Amino acid sequence: MQTSSAQMTRILAIETSCDETAAAVVENGARILSNVIASQIDLHAQYGGVFPEVASRRHIEVIYPVIEQAVREAYIGFDDLDCIAVTRGPGLVGSLLVGVNAAKGLALARNKPFLGINHIEGHIYSLWLTDAAPDITFPLLTLVVSGGHTELYLMTAHGRYQHLGGTLDDAAGEAFDKVGRLLGLPFPGGPAIDKAAERGNPAAFAFPRALMTDQGYNFSFSGLKTAVMRQVKQYNTRPPVADLAASFQAAVVEALVTKTVQAALDYGVMAVHVAGGVSANRALRQAMSAALTIPVRVPPLFLCTDNAAMIGAAAHWHFVNGRRDTLDLDVIPSLQLA
Ligand code: KG4
Ligand code: ZN
Repeated sequence: MQTSSAQMTRILAIETSCDETAAAVVENGARILSNVIASQIDLHAQYGGVFPEVASRRHIEVIYPVIEQAVREAYIGFDDLDCIAVTRGPGLVGSLLVGVNAAKGLALARNKPFLGINHIEGHIYSLWLTDAAPDITFPLLTLVVSGGHTELYLMTAHGRYQHLGGTLDDAAGEAFDKVGRLLGLPFPGGPAIDKAAERGNPAAFAFPRALMTDQGYNFSFSGLKTAVMRQVKQYNTRPPVADLAASFQAAVVEALVTKTVQAALDYGVMAVHVAGGVSANRALRQAMSAALTIPVRVPPLFLCTDNAAMIGAAAHWHFVNGRRDTLDLDVIPSLQLA
C-alpha cells in the first residue's frame, strides 16, 4: 500500500468482532465525526467472560440503532459517505456475521463501496486518530495487546507489516481476565487488576517471566496464570489481592516491555506504538515510556478498547489506495494480518 492520503474520505465503519457493538464515521482516516459504542460488559459480567451466543444476539438487537446514531451524530446523511467498512475478523464468528451482514446490506441499499477490515489493523490505526498522527514516520514497531492478541509487528509503510512475534498461548488481556477471575475481581479483569494493583506491592511475589532468555520476540502467559493460581490456592481465607494483582501485572509488563525494547533496538525503528485493550494499562504505559528514548505512543483510553473509529481509520488507507471488496466477502474468525 502507498502512503497517499490526499483523497478526502468519509467512511462509516462498523465493528462487532467481540462484545462491543460499534459504529463510527471517520473523515480522512484521521478525524472522528462520531464514535458510538454499545458495550455488552454488564451482560457478560454474570458469566465471568464473553458468552458468544449472547454476544451475537445482542449485536442483532442494537446494530441498526447504533449505526443510525453514528450517522446522526456525524451530522451527515448516508449520501455523504464514500464507503462502508466493517471488521471481517479476527473475532467471534456469530458476532462478526452481524456486523458484516449489516454493512453489506447498507452498501447494497445505498450503492456504496464496501471494505472488510482486519480488527488487528484497526487497533494499529487507532494511533492515526490521535494528535501524534502528523509525526508518525516509518519504520515503527507496533505491539497489539488485547483480549485475543499479543502480537509484535514491524510496520514499514501503510499496510506493510512483518510479524516479529506473538503469544504462544494466552493473550495478555486473556491472562488479565483469567487472573482477575481467580482473584475474585469483576469482569473484565484488566481494568480491575490495574486498579487493585495500585495498592499492591509488585515485588510481593516473584512470578515467572516466561521466554525472557529466548532470542525471539514471542510471549507466553499461561505459566504465569498457573503460578498465580497455585499461590491463590495456598490461602484458606481471602488472598492478598492487591499484592497478587501488582505482582502479576509486573510480570506481564516486564515481558511485554523487554521483548518490545529488544525488537525496537534490533530493527532501529523511529517509534514504538502500543494498541489494543491492554494498552490502557497504566503500568505498561509507564514502563514502556521509561524503557525507550524514541517516542512511545499509546492511544487515548477510549481508543484502546474495541471501537469502530479505528476500523474507519484503517479503511481510509485501503480506500485511497483503490481497494474495493465485493459483497461475497466472508468473515474470517482467525484472520491473520501478516
Ligand atoms: O481490544 P479489546 O477491547 O478487545 C479485543 O480485541 O480483545 O481488549 C480487551 C482486553 C480485555 O482482556 C481487558 O481485560 C483488557 O483489554 N484491558 C486491560 C485494561 N483495560 C482493558 N488490561 C489491562 N489493564 C487495563 N487497564
Ligand atoms: Zn480488539
